[in-house]
Amino acid sequence: MSKTYVITGGAGFIGSNLAHTLAAREPDADITIIDDFRSGDFRNLEGFKGDLITADLSRVDLTPWFDDVKVDVVFHLASITDTTDHDQYRQCHDNIEGWRNLLGTFTSKKTRIVYASSAATYGIAAGINRVDQPQKPANVYAFSKVQLENLARQWSRSNPKQAIIGLRFFNVYGPRETHKLKASSMILQLAQQMLAGKQPRIFTAGEQKRDFVYVNDIVDFMLAAARADITSGVYNAGSGVARSFNDIVTNLNRVLNLNLPPEYIDNPYSFYQPHTEADLAETERALLTQPAFTLETGIDDYFASGWLK
Ligand SMILES: NC(=O)c1ccc[n+]([C@@H]2O[C@H](COP(=O)([O-])OP(=O)(O)OC[C@H]3O[C@@H](n4cnc5c(N)ncnc54)[C@H](O)[C@@H]3O)[C@@H](O)[C@H]2O)c1
Repeated sequence: MSKTYVITGGAGFIGSNLAHTLAAREPDADITIIDDFRSGDFRNLEGFKGDLITADLSRVDLTPWFDDVKVDVVFHLASITDTTDHDQYRQCHDNIEGWRNLLGTFTSKKTRIVYASSAATYGIAAGINRVDQPQKPANVYAFSKVQLENLARQWSRSNPKQAIIGLRFFNVYGPRETHKLKASSMILQLAQQMLAGKQPRIFTAGEQKRDFVYVNDIVDFMLAAARADITSGVYNAGSGVARSFNDIVTNLNRVLNLNLPPEYIDNPYSFYQPHTEADLAETERALLTQPAFTLETGIDDYFASGWLK
């Protein structure tokens, strides 16, 4: 039987990749996107054949659209995604109230909900990131994600049969992120500098390490969460490997057939994460899936897609 899906933030980077993959794998599925285009882009939805509700999730009454509709899974990706936006009211209001609105609309219907949290909730503590370690959000974006998890936990306690599954995405890169400009992945930003003939600018001395995860793997984590035999919880969604910014430059020089050395600059951010690395043991146990891409194969696939430009 064909299924019905809702994707909030579906005009954005990860949401649009999810929408296209779902449509390709389940051609009969009904897919509705909710997005207010504050950071999304219609170009990401070229070829998309589903419905689109253009609205701010934190301010819209969703009842008229979903009152009589059975939705199988809601994927919640809508969020302010610029981590350097320090407007505390805007980040908290829009991210948290949008989430509360969605929970209120769908919890009573027993719809499974898969939502995006972030590795930013771990803060600047270096090392391997395990879901049970204390959260230390270093900016208001990360704080709002902690609140999403708190609200989900509270909601799950009152609705034990309701599946509400959070995924802490690490640093995602891949096709359809071009619209994010300075909030796009360092893989795209450095590739654009190099394609313009400039040396790639990274913070001294390029050995800070991040868990860079290819967007196809993130889509697979979300789809695994949609079918997993679990109720509620929060899981890491990364590659499971920490790689340096120097590694990115090496791989970009390889696929772009260039030989541009990095230009090292001082890091102006006090909330910068020096090392992130997803511990995936719980994710693999509960979601029965694991990432398929390394940094090398992810950058190869990105380049082959034609979006790395
Ligand atoms: N890209 C990453 O590396 C990364 C890492 C960790 C977490 N995340 C999370 O993944 C999700 C998707 O991020 P993305 O990288 O695709 O960013 P994005 O900015 O491309 O997508 C976010 C989408 O949400 C929409 N949106 C924002 N607020 C909204 C609101 N109140 N109502 C309706 N639509 C709204 C935007 O217009 C945009 O289309 C976000 O929740 C983000 O916090 C992303």
